[in-house]
Amino acid sequence: MTVTDHLDGAYLRQALEQDVRTGLTSSPKWLPPKWFYDAAGSELFSEITRLAEYYPTRRELDILRRHAIEIARLSRADTLVELGSGTSEKTVLLLDALAAMGTLRAYTPVDVDAVTLEAAAARLAARYPRLDVRPVRADFERHLSLLPRTGRRLVAFLGGTIGNLPPAAREVFLKELRATLRPGDTLLLGTDLVKDRGRLVAAYDDALGVTAAFNRNVLHVINRELDADFPPEAFQHVALYDEDNEWIEMRLRATRPMRVGIRALGLDISFDDGEEMRTEISAKFRHEGVADELAKAGFSVTRWLTDPAGDFALTLASPRPSARA
Ligand code: SAH
Ligand code: TRP
Repeated sequence: MTVTDHLDGAYLRQALEQDVRTGLTSSPKWLPPKWFYDAAGSELFSEITRLAEYYPTRRELDILRRHAIEIARLSRADTLVELGSGTSEKTVLLLDALAAMGTLRAYTPVDVDAVTLEAAAARLAARYPRLDVRPVRADFERHLSLLPRTGRRLVAFLGGTIGNLPPAAREVFLKELRATLRPGDTLLLGTDLVKDRGRLVAAYDDALGVTAAFNRNVLHVINRELDADFPPEAFQHVALYDEDNEWIEMRLRATRPMRVGIRALGLDISFDDGEEMRTEISAKFRHEGVADELAKAGFSVTRWLTDPAGDFALTLASPRPSARA
């Protein structure tokens, strides 16, 4: 399986260096979430999706079971492009529905993690022998214009990953995505919904500590890639729900004062006892909010699909024809 790689070593290194330098010299400190996903991080995320507390994957799967046929019928797509595809587990439901309609020709999974991407692509190529599987390793915040432009496309962005982008980045992302689509293309967007705070927090702070390990994995990545000496076990996983912003915030809290060297950057960073750095947000949405954000980016919503409990939503949207003179 050949992976088209837009994230060669030099590019990745430069992006990581820039993000880590900016984040760790800011006050408060923060780290950018795409660096969670090396092979170990993807494996931990995969474990998260099977945790009792982590409902989003099961709910989204439930919606796909009920509505994949309808999604296939409305999109009539021949090409499925999936952003942040990970293990592509839920994707099988979409591929089956599109194959049953007889329109399906190609599948392009897009992810930053090469190992998981390649494994998922190989698994799906074996399962669908007539499918043209073309995995692309890319950053969906930077490389949307390099994705396949041919065919009638369904662009799936599942897992609530859009909620990991802060609002300003989300707006930019949706506009850039809209700009790459043509009439007839469809967007399928997965969003986690606002709900009881207890369930939300538990989904990001599980009893087995898998999410804690996932959160700390970013420190292992920085240690390895940038020759740093973070002691990951000295950082405590923190997940809290910000009611005003309606997002989960993940942090790492220093459990003692320390200095951390990041040799590749020539940086020495000190942490106070109890100091927290933000590693991720996971925004929770409402119907109006999703519709507004999509409208602002030039989409119109064609379907709003939720599970019976109303925990998660899939939105189908079409690019609104632009009013060019
Ligand atoms: N879609 C899967 C995985 C969600 S986890 C699911 O619903 O279960 C988020 C995925 O997006 C991970 O596989 C991660 O590697 C990928 N990812 C995160 N940031 C990315 C970025 N900027 N560009 C491309 N992929 C990204
Ligand atoms: N897209 C997932 C979400 O927001 C990613 C995720 C799940 C995550 N659990 C996490 C990211 C814990 C960081 C830490 O639900």
